[in-house]
Amino acid sequence: MLKTVVLIFCINVAVESFYLPGLAPVNYCKKDEPLDGCKSEVKLFVNRLNTDESVIPYEYHHFDFCLPVNNEKSPVENLGQVVFGERIRPSPYEIEFMKNETCKVVCHKKYSGDKYADNLQLSMLRKGISLKYQHHWIVDNMPITTCYDKDDCRTGFPMGCFSRNGRHNCLEDVGRENANYIYNHVNLTITYHSGAHEEWGSKFHENGGRIISVKVIPRSIDYKGHNCSQFETEPLAIPNDNLKPGETFDIIYTYSITFVQDDHVKWSSRWDYILESIPHTNIQWFSILNSLVIVVFLSGMVAMILLRTLHKDIARYNQIDNGEDAQEEFGWKLVHGDVFRPPRKGMLLSVLLGSGVQVFFMTLVTLAFACLGFLSPANRGALMTCAMVLYVLLGSPAGYISARIYKSFGGEKWKSNVLLTSMLATGIVFGLFFIMNLVLWAKDSSAAVPFSTLIGLLALWWLVSVPLTFIGAFFGFRKRALEHPVRTNQIPRLIPEQSVYTKPIPSIIMGGVLPFGCIFIQLFFILKSIWSSQMYYMFGFLFLVFIILVITCAETTILLCYFHLCAEDYHWWWRSYMTSGFTAVYLFLYCCHYFFTKLQIEDAASAFLYFGYTIIMVFLFNLLTGTIGFFACFWFIRKIYSVVKVD
Ligand SMILES: *[C@@H]1O[C@H](CO)[C@@H](O)[C@H](O)[C@H]1NC(C)=O
Ligand SMILES: *[C@@H]1O[C@H](CO)[C@@H](O)[C@H](O)[C@H]1NC(C)=O
Ligand SMILES: *[C@@H]1O[C@H](CO)[C@@H](O)[C@H](O)[C@H]1NC(C)=O
Repeated sequence: MLKTVVLIFCINVAVESFYLPGLAPVNYCKKDEPLDGCKSEVKLFVNRLNTDESVIPYEYHHFDFCLPVNNEKSPVENLGQVVFGERIRPSPYEIEFMKNETCKVVCHKKYSGDKYADNLQLSMLRKGISLKYQHHWIVDNMPITTCYDKDDCRTGFPMGCFSRNGRHNCLEDVGRENANYIYNHVNLTITYHSGAHEEWGSKFHENGGRIISVKVIPRSIDYKGHNCSQFETEPLAIPNDNLKPGETFDIIYTYSITFVQDDHVKWSSRWDYILESIPHTNIQWFSILNSLVIVVFLSGMVAMILLRTLHKDIARYNQIDNGEDAQEEFGWKLVHGDVFRPPRKGMLLSVLLGSGVQVFFMTLVTLAFACLGFLSPANRGALMTCAMVLYVLLGSPAGYISARIYKSFGGEKWKSNVLLTSMLATGIVFGLFFIMNLVLWAKDSSAAVPFSTLIGLLALWWLVSVPLTFIGAFFGFRKRALEHPVRTNQIPRLIPEQSVYTKPIPSIIMGGVLPFGCIFIQLFFILKSIWSSQMYYMFGFLFLVFIILVITCAETTILLCYFHLCAEDYHWWWRSYMTSGFTAVYLFLYCCHYFFTKLQIEDAASAFLYFGYTIIMVFLFNLLTGTIGFFACFWFIRKIYSVVKVD
């Protein structure tokens, strides 16, 4: 009995205390009841604003909202947050735990037509509202949400709303035609879990708790002749034209706070209401099922070929060799003297494969971590930081693989090989990133990475990744070149005329279809989380889909490779890379489709950025899938030629 109790207690403690650094629960209590280790001040942070209609996010300070009075420091952000444009700043909103507030004024902004700068600020607000920019505020490491319905809570809330041509997108009824209304009042409802049943004991029941959720109802209130405790208020429209000299315009920003106790929701499951309102579990299962069908179909084909045809082939080949009349050879055995003939542009291929291995292991490990819950949404930017750090550290395998492959091609220029492995892929990604950063700088966007971070990234690349690649390459070159199971003839065979299906280009185009078919539903959610700031958290699914992708890429390539060899076409090195790598082209087409149907981006800079980021993604994806296909095919060919007897 006692043992059971102790065990349960231990498990409880283990579960309750197993939080990552920075993600431990914070205990709050009333100001006039100070307790050990608990805070009474609830900090509200503001993040950058973004929108579906542009890919350019802006910092809170870009717009003329209220600023904190005292110079508080911004919280420290990790690399992933900085590189991907999050900018968390302190805010002027003061919240005291368990103290309700009604219509507290934050600041009073006055604009006058005499000042050019004031008109500029107003037009910025107008533009932000009409492009539907969204605030993203953070309290106790949780995003503030707006609930449009009981089960439909989304992170963030719009900075305003507008009516145009008789229609409006405001939360309440507004009358006027063609106007932009600013949400200058926020009504925050903070739900907390009282600490009564936990380690605090009953003493703190009345006075303390942990924050469960923060929901906001934004309102636009014209304070001329109204106050915010009235229900019937006029919304505050920002003048459509610039103020004329002598004219003035005022915005008073206010907020209300209501603390509500709710002991039903546990602190550890407080994210659920945000994550569950993303309605796609069914679709996820459908997508997994869809991919599984493809995998089963492909695996069936591969199994049939490998087990039956191949088996028969091998048995026949070996029989002929033993046999009385040395019959003519046929099928894939014919090209045994050419399959391992080094490809043209072997340098480039080996470099791409090295980088592909780097991307592959980065993805695999990041997804595994995410799957285990180490990179939860509460741990902001952790996913990207993890991916970047892994990429840098995985320089060694890249150098090693690239060197070994290059050496097996009989390459001699090992210096160029190492340099290219460490520079080419990373250089392309960094170069594109840098160009896009210039555009963001020009647009004064918060996504522009500060110069110091750029230097930091360069340092990571040059001082960590490059040396690691050199070390890997050193070991790769020191090893003996890979032994091939069959010898290569002096004179290359002539390749017979191919039918349409076994011509390189049609088969490469076909090759990408199935792997893409496995991922496209998942892709939709990923794109949505990148461009519409919807949270992505189904890493379990994603990991599964990744495994399925690897299997399909490998199987498709092996299958097509077998057909080609049977047709006596032995140029498989590049083709195996291209066959599965072509999935990236489909990815690109899908991103274009997404751009034109799901986003309402109109300005050129946004479109440029969208396609810039897309190209980086497509390039990395090409490295990933191409490498999977190549190594699958490489393994397959070595396997089959090592079992047939050749002279
Ligand atoms: C705050 O307001 C809510 C809702 O009106 C009420 O239930 C709660 O008791 C109030 N809290 C305090 C500390 O006054
Ligand atoms: C804020 O919202 C809550 C919940 O909807 C409501 O009960 C409260 O009256 C609102 N407060 C103000 C000042 O509008
Ligand atoms: C708000 O307006 C109503 C009616 O005009 C008035 O009775 C009330 O005292 C006002 N409240 C505040 C806080 O000014």
